[in-house]
Amino acid sequence: MGASSRAFFLLTILSLIHVSLAQDQNQFIYNGFQGANLHLDGAAKILPSGLLELTNTSKQIKGHAFYQIPISFNRSSSISIPFPSFSTNLAFAIVPELPNLSGHGLAFIISPTMDFSQAVGGQYLGLFNISNNGLPTNHVLAIELDTILNPEFADINNNHVGIDVNSLKSVDSAPVSYFSSEEGKNISLRLLNGDPMQLWVDYDAPREVLNVTVAPLRRLKPNRPLLSTPVDLSQFLLENMYVGFSSATGPVASDHYVLGWSFNSSGPAQNLEISKLPPLPPKRKTSQKPSNVIIILPIAAIVFLIMVIGAVYFVRRKKYAEVREEWETEYDPQRFSYKDLYIATKGFKEKELLGAGGFGKVYKGTLPASDVQIAVKRISHDSHQGMKEFVAEIASMRRLRHRNLVQLLGYCRRKGELLLVYDYMPNGSLDKFLFSNRTPTLSWFHRFRVLKDVASALLYLHEEWEQVVLHRDVKSSNVLLDADLSGRLGDFGLARLYDHGTNPQTTRVVGTVGYLAPELSKTGRATTDTDVFAFGVFMLEMACGRRPMDLQGLPEEVSMVDWVMGYWRCGAILDVIDPKLEGTYLVEEMELVLKLGLLCAHPMPAMRPKMRQVMQYLDGHVSLPEIQDGGTVFTSTFAPSNGASDFVMSFPSLSGKCSANLLSSNESIFHTGR
Ligand SMILES: *[C@@H]1O[C@H](CO)[C@@H](O)[C@H](O)[C@H]1NC(C)=O
Ligand SMILES: *[C@@H]1O[C@H](CO)[C@@H](O)[C@H](O)[C@H]1NC(C)=O
Ligand SMILES: *[C@@H]1O[C@H](CO)[C@@H](O)[C@H](O)[C@H]1NC(C)=O
Ligand SMILES: *[C@@H]1O[C@H](CO)[C@@H](O)[C@H](O)[C@H]1NC(C)=O
Ligand SMILES: *[C@@H]1O[C@H](CO)[C@@H](O)[C@H](O)[C@H]1NC(C)=O
Ligand SMILES: *[C@@H]1O[C@H](CO)[C@@H](O)[C@H](O)[C@H]1NC(C)=O
Ligand SMILES: *[C@@H]1O[C@H](CO)[C@@H](O)[C@H](O)[C@H]1NC(C)=O
Repeated sequence: MGASSRAFFLLTILSLIHVSLAQDQNQFIYNGFQGANLHLDGAAKILPSGLLELTNTSKQIKGHAFYQIPISFNRSSSISIPFPSFSTNLAFAIVPELPNLSGHGLAFIISPTMDFSQAVGGQYLGLFNISNNGLPTNHVLAIELDTILNPEFADINNNHVGIDVNSLKSVDSAPVSYFSSEEGKNISLRLLNGDPMQLWVDYDAPREVLNVTVAPLRRLKPNRPLLSTPVDLSQFLLENMYVGFSSATGPVASDHYVLGWSFNSSGPAQNLEISKLPPLPPKRKTSQKPSNVIIILPIAAIVFLIMVIGAVYFVRRKKYAEVREEWETEYDPQRFSYKDLYIATKGFKEKELLGAGGFGKVYKGTLPASDVQIAVKRISHDSHQGMKEFVAEIASMRRLRHRNLVQLLGYCRRKGELLLVYDYMPNGSLDKFLFSNRTPTLSWFHRFRVLKDVASALLYLHEEWEQVVLHRDVKSSNVLLDADLSGRLGDFGLARLYDHGTNPQTTRVVGTVGYLAPELSKTGRATTDTDVFAFGVFMLEMACGRRPMDLQGLPEEVSMVDWVMGYWRCGAILDVIDPKLEGTYLVEEMELVLKLGLLCAHPMPAMRPKMRQVMQYLDGHVSLPEIQDGGTVFTSTFAPSNGASDFVMSFPSLSGKCSANLLSSNESIFHTGR
């Protein structure tokens, strides 16, 4: 039987090949990933060119790629061969969506599992989540290439390499640079420059030293590592571990690519063959780098283009005129050209108008070069005074990164006006959901989640960033809803515009009537406590579905806080709930929100909780102190200060009011309505 013996022969050969592969499973090399059998999840995919794309420029995504077969790190071997060494070499590139604004970076990882479905993206890099970050049970080693400074993980800057053992707080890290032996010095590298680079990770088990080295793609491996850190990995790694990559984007995104990868657990990893690596996709057109365009287009076309641009520029010069001063060059990376914004918003057409608020009109737009959707806020600003400080502040606000903040992308200045460019939020502002007759209304599930979102954004501004940022205008119309109805706080720090000279009376209280803490009228000074007050009013707003001030209402109903307080005192707090919810809510959550709202909107600043406590109450990690009956307000856990007991004593006999008429009192309990 010729045919069957041939088949047998073939099978034997195949199984032989299989065996030889299996023997080599602890080492591999990919010069491009065409046909590679990797385990991919999330946004990760292998492009037809063989490029491994961990994330594209979609926001808030993560992607993982693993070598399918676990690497056996033989720890049982013996004392003579301690934990084996390993070595890896990879070529990667990070291409930000907008120049200098990036997603979070990528990491080479060694992990006991390929399942990272519970991990979150953003600053967690798709590696951990808030509850398992730092746990020794993770058994994860990551070499992070991090492009964002996250103070919560003690990051050193927004361009570093770090060694992470079970935690995003790196055991060691360094700004990205490589040692050039020809020049005898370190040369710094920007991860975000979009060019391919190489990373080498070498572990010397007997000496318990982990070396990490980075260099531009076409350079030989530098002979001095960037990091050479003592780490005893035998303590962390298990016998069978997967090796691969993790990457994540946040409110702003980057393409994260891996071009090639070699790995070896029994010797130094082979060098990649640079010429075989897949090319990166053509660079996005950016105004900073016209040279890319020039290379691609024939000269005639360029001349023509320049002529057209020149002609258009000449004609439109006035139309697109901007104000740009000497001191501003430092902020060029965050500057948008007026022309781009003009084109993006179709000439600030009424049709593109998203809304008009206290600070100006907001337009929807699509950036011509990158198709990124944006929201442009146009603020008229006549004064020149204080501009320098304000622009500096915009630059620092742009560095605020949190999944529940509307990301500020940059600015532009013209005569008499200032334009701020933000991430576009497809679902618009929350007040439209709360106060319109739109059906179905925003469910309690979403409302409660949005409350937590906004609380976590405020906590970040107050406590988690490098400096305290006051919002000063927390309210439902400043909360925007993104594509999946999560809440994002917008307009942070904008109130400062008034401090920088626009308004000569700098004592002017910024904020919105109904959300202003009583002490603001006396001191005029905004504090984290005044933000908490406004957040309290916002919580009540979400529960009651009414505006904080209702000037058409009965006198005693004008202030929502007083009105809710009245019901609470009568033990009927659940009567204030938004009828549009039609009774579908969790009673415990609703009660928590109403009572916590009242606590936050307490007239005495000292009685208000801090945002960290608010977060703990909302998460249910700490239970809200049981509020005592009637007059003895909030005294169960907060020791009453003198002020507080004054407050309590000035309303001695409240219980009588309920029976007569719940709302008969014209005595304002909380003096919010000024
Ligand atoms: C990213 O990839 C996903 C699917 O893999 C796709 O839906 C999305 O449109 C892509 N985003 C961009 C910005 O290309
Ligand atoms: C681990 O090391 C021991 C002792 O050297 C050896 O007997 C065993 O075969 C090794 N296991 C693997 C999976 O290499
Ligand atoms: C975090 O991840 C761990 C393990 O992957 C999972 O068990 C846990 O439920 C996650 N926690 C949260 C808050 O998502
Ligand atoms: C180069 O960087 C390494 C690692 O950060 C550092 O130890 C070394 O001192 C630097 N060398 C020079 C010449 O600056
Ligand atoms: C790590 O770096 C040190 C310092 O340059 C060097 O002596 C050592 O040989 C390196 N080890 C490995 C495994 O590359
Ligand atoms: C792994 O190391 C061994 C021993 O130095 C070497 O022969 C082999 O080519 C290496 N393999 C890879 C894929 O780097
Ligand atoms: C990005 O920022 C760096 C340093 O902050 C600066 O040197 C560089 O010019 C900026 N690049 C672009 C394209 O804006």
